[in-house]
Amino acid sequence: MAMGATLPLSRHLVSLVALLALSQAFSATAQTYTNVTQGTILTPLGSTNSWPSPSGDFAFGFRALDSNASLFLLAIWYNSTSPQAIVWFANGHNPVLAGSKLELTSDGQFFLTDQSGNEVWNPGVSNASYAALLDSGNLILVSSSSSSPLWQSFASPNDTLLPGQTLLPGSSLRSRLTDLDYSEGRFELLDQKDGNLVLYPSAMPAGNLYKAYWATGTVDSGSNSRLVFNESGSLYLALTNGTQMAIFSNGTYSTNDYYQRATLDPDGVFTLYVYPKSASNGQQEWQVAGTTPPNICTAIMNDYGSGACGYNSYCVSNGDSGKPDCLCPPNYSFIDSTRKYLGCMPSFAPQSCERNQTDSFEFQPLAQIDWPLSDYELYTTVDEDQCKEYCLSDCMCAVTIFKNGDCYKKKLPLSNGRKTSSFPGTALIKVAKSNPSTPQPPGSTAAVEKKDRKTLILVGSLLLGSSGLLNMVFLAVISVNALCRYGNRRPIKPESSVPGMNMRVFTYGELEQATNGFSEELGSGSFGRVYRGSLTLDSRTWIAVKKLDRLLHENDKEFMNEVRSIGQTHHKNLVRLLGLCNEGVHRLLVYEYMSNGSLKSFLFASERPHWNRRTKIALGIARGVLYLHEECSAPIIHCDIKPENILLDDNFVARISDFGLAKLLRTDRSHRTNTGIRGTRGYVAPEWFKNAPITAKVDVYSFGVVLLEIICCRKSLERGVGNEVVMVLTYWACDCYREGRLDLLVEKDEEAMADMSVVERFVMVAIWCIQEEPSLRPSMQKVIQMLEGAVAVPAPPDPSSYISSIR
Ligand SMILES: *[C@@H]1O[C@H](CO)[C@@H](O)[C@H](O)[C@H]1NC(C)=O
Ligand SMILES: *[C@@H]1O[C@H](CO)[C@@H](O)[C@H](O)[C@H]1NC(C)=O
Ligand SMILES: *[C@@H]1O[C@H](CO)[C@@H](O)[C@H](O)[C@H]1NC(C)=O
Ligand SMILES: *[C@@H]1O[C@H](CO)[C@@H](O)[C@H](O)[C@H]1NC(C)=O
Ligand SMILES: *[C@@H]1O[C@H](CO)[C@@H](O)[C@H](O)[C@H]1NC(C)=O
Ligand SMILES: *[C@@H]1O[C@H](CO)[C@@H](O)[C@H](O)[C@H]1NC(C)=O
Ligand SMILES: *[C@@H]1O[C@H](CO)[C@@H](O)[C@H](O)[C@H]1NC(C)=O
Ligand SMILES: *[C@@H]1O[C@H](CO)[C@@H](O)[C@H](O)[C@H]1NC(C)=O
Ligand SMILES: *[C@@H]1O[C@H](CO)[C@@H](O)[C@H](O)[C@H]1NC(C)=O
Ligand SMILES: *[C@@H]1O[C@H](CO)[C@@H](O)[C@H](O)[C@H]1NC(C)=O
Ligand SMILES: *[C@@H]1O[C@H](CO)[C@@H](O)[C@H](O)[C@H]1NC(C)=O
Repeated sequence: MAMGATLPLSRHLVSLVALLALSQAFSATAQTYTNVTQGTILTPLGSTNSWPSPSGDFAFGFRALDSNASLFLLAIWYNSTSPQAIVWFANGHNPVLAGSKLELTSDGQFFLTDQSGNEVWNPGVSNASYAALLDSGNLILVSSSSSSPLWQSFASPNDTLLPGQTLLPGSSLRSRLTDLDYSEGRFELLDQKDGNLVLYPSAMPAGNLYKAYWATGTVDSGSNSRLVFNESGSLYLALTNGTQMAIFSNGTYSTNDYYQRATLDPDGVFTLYVYPKSASNGQQEWQVAGTTPPNICTAIMNDYGSGACGYNSYCVSNGDSGKPDCLCPPNYSFIDSTRKYLGCMPSFAPQSCERNQTDSFEFQPLAQIDWPLSDYELYTTVDEDQCKEYCLSDCMCAVTIFKNGDCYKKKLPLSNGRKTSSFPGTALIKVAKSNPSTPQPPGSTAAVEKKDRKTLILVGSLLLGSSGLLNMVFLAVISVNALCRYGNRRPIKPESSVPGMNMRVFTYGELEQATNGFSEELGSGSFGRVYRGSLTLDSRTWIAVKKLDRLLHENDKEFMNEVRSIGQTHHKNLVRLLGLCNEGVHRLLVYEYMSNGSLKSFLFASERPHWNRRTKIALGIARGVLYLHEECSAPIIHCDIKPENILLDDNFVARISDFGLAKLLRTDRSHRTNTGIRGTRGYVAPEWFKNAPITAKVDVYSFGVVLLEIICCRKSLERGVGNEVVMVLTYWACDCYREGRLDLLVEKDEEAMADMSVVERFVMVAIWCIQEEPSLRPSMQKVIQMLEGAVAVPAPPDPSSYISSIR
């Protein structure tokens, strides 16, 4: 009886719960517009973590950082553009973690607290009855008793002004530090109370301002000048006497047709960006429509500070767009390529007054480049050779500028560097000699490889002469085989310690025991077999032991050098090397074990992995490759990026393996590394088959192929599918892109279909990566920025010259 009574009730409960869940799901996805009432809480991972403006053009709420998805910004952004654009943020210097929340309390306070409950941001209002994000992008807090807002985001701008927004006397815009770092940057646009509108560089990190680099020059025009960006899109300084001074010379874009924002960019240029609301007004991307100052490279010149670019770098104004590029002099490289403002450092050993300067250094000329400050000696009426001689014999001298018989000696750090076509002088950069008689860098078996390469090219041209894609595939197979059979192994004495290496040295016996006599094979790669094992001390720590039986190097020292450079890499998208064994004829490498197998088994499994997870993996791989190319101490070209070499850890984070087994890059990346053909058919860049330099761009190419595989969940080469073009994923993807049929690439993949803008962006990036011409391929840094949507992806050209050249 009791049972009979509860049954219908519980059934009722079930359907009620289902109904509730349904209505909740509905309200979460529908995003209908409501003002935010008291008692509302917003969290980064809640079902709703942002609110739209009535039109949906803007959104306000939590946003994961592009540079680190576990950190969140409380922000307002253009939500209907691609890429979206952040126009205001509350906590740029202090992004919060998932446990944080934004609250409008029942007594009308509005504030952001972090994961530990500490207050991070509070506009200082009480008695707000609701908050509303208006269609202008203005967030307002309103009290029931007053019609004017208690607080509005338009009155507290960061780096951006929107149409309808005014910068009042005494207030300023502050650039962010980099495109991806929202903390306070190096430039400020200040609407001064003396009537002048001024751009200042600021001292990092203290923030005080240096001498201005641009101003309207309206000093003493009254104390009430305002920078107005009015609703119809005019941006002007409204002087006290009523005169309007336009800030950008290119006129006005209608706010009916264009989304707009005026941003003080991290590079110091105050820039008007416009985005066509409809495709009939031009390509739907953020376009530069006005810049101030016209050339920032020459505008900044201060005794203090590094200038527009970082120390030791120089600034090149990028043509009409007015945006600068910062570059390093030859044989110098960026301290951190994601933070170029930190400047460049010599990539050769620093000068020492003990070395014989004449023997150790030479000059690299750089026309039209000047660092106008940083002089410490001037010699007049000398010739260029004398000028060099004077700098060479002086161990303080880093650079000398030779100009019309004058010779300026300069010391580090160099500041205010710029390229000016009208500059009549030449910078002579003092760099370490690359002496051909000194030993080659570790791992270069140049002589052997040159020979192999020549034969290969010969074989290659014969085969290519007889044409056909299959021949090319065949050639790649031969090449890989040929090059993996390097030299003869020589017995090696056991090594007891590895100086300078933070790695464990195992004996062969230890590894034999750890792998239970090499009983569980995980797979085999181009260098040998891989076995699973566990360290005896802690049997839960699995390891992967790689037996190198097809050895690349004959020489023990070279092997240790290569291993040392692998051991020095630390990045979350790389598989860590834990130790090694170098005993007798045995050479083994011990890696951390990756529980979730390779990208190959993940991607081509019977069940298609989630789109979201795939996009994260693609970005992870890109970050790993960027680290190898630019961020680790000895740059590495992987040469064999493919799904088999990308492993997945417990959290499905992509981890690149097998890196460093190819050549180490030289410091000068444009130089051919003389590696023979490595790599795997379907993934190798075309320059391997030509007598063209091998650079880091071969990895960019392979990454592009893997990216297409990730997008389509299809192998790069698939036999027996229709004609040749369909068989090769890269051709097929380019055809689909050209014909505007990207849907074919993700057919039956509903998650990807629902995210076509990202699919399109990824495919465009991939096509850039697989350009036949290596110089057209972007750097991995650029690839990441494009994948993340931090910069727009221009339409890629057809890489099909590649096809025609092999037919
Ligand atoms: C939301 O707030 C705006 C601005 O105060 C007001 O004009 C509008 O009527 C409010 N809308 C709703 C649905 O309460
Ligand atoms: C922002 O736009 C995306 C689509 O690009 C949409 O899914 C999301 O709901 C929008 N966010 C808000 C708060 O409207
Ligand atoms: C992201 O930020 C969190 C918190 O600061 C940090 O622990 C984590 O290491 C960061 N991840 C990356 C990839 O920088
Ligand atoms: C908030 O409103 C209440 C009642 O309207 C008033 O008594 C109180 O002083 C107000 N508080 C502030 C800080 O304005
Ligand atoms: C951005 O503006 C908000 C509101 O004025 C302010 O609290 C915050 O400190 C600013 N952030 C940066 C990085 O300037
Ligand atoms: C307003 O002031 C500016 C700068 O002081 C001056 O150039 C301009 O002629 C003035 N305009 C009028 C109408 O007085
Ligand atoms: C914006 O300024 C321009 C130039 O002064 C003017 O023609 C236009 O009417 C103004 N628009 C609004 C909405 O005030
Ligand atoms: C300004 O307009 C001219 C001519 O329409 C155009 O060539 C130029 O690129 C524009 N400049 C900017 C910064 O948009
Ligand atoms: C440095 O080497 C050059 C050439 O080898 C020699 O002429 C010169 O005397 C040396 N200088 C010093 C200071 O030893
Ligand atoms: C310096 O760069 C040049 C070309 O850019 C290169 O040929 C040379 O080997 C480099 N020297 C060193 C020491 O890296
Ligand atoms: C991935 O790793 C997790 C944690 O080790 C495990 O639970 C899961 O089954 C693995 N998935 C696959 C596909 O191997």
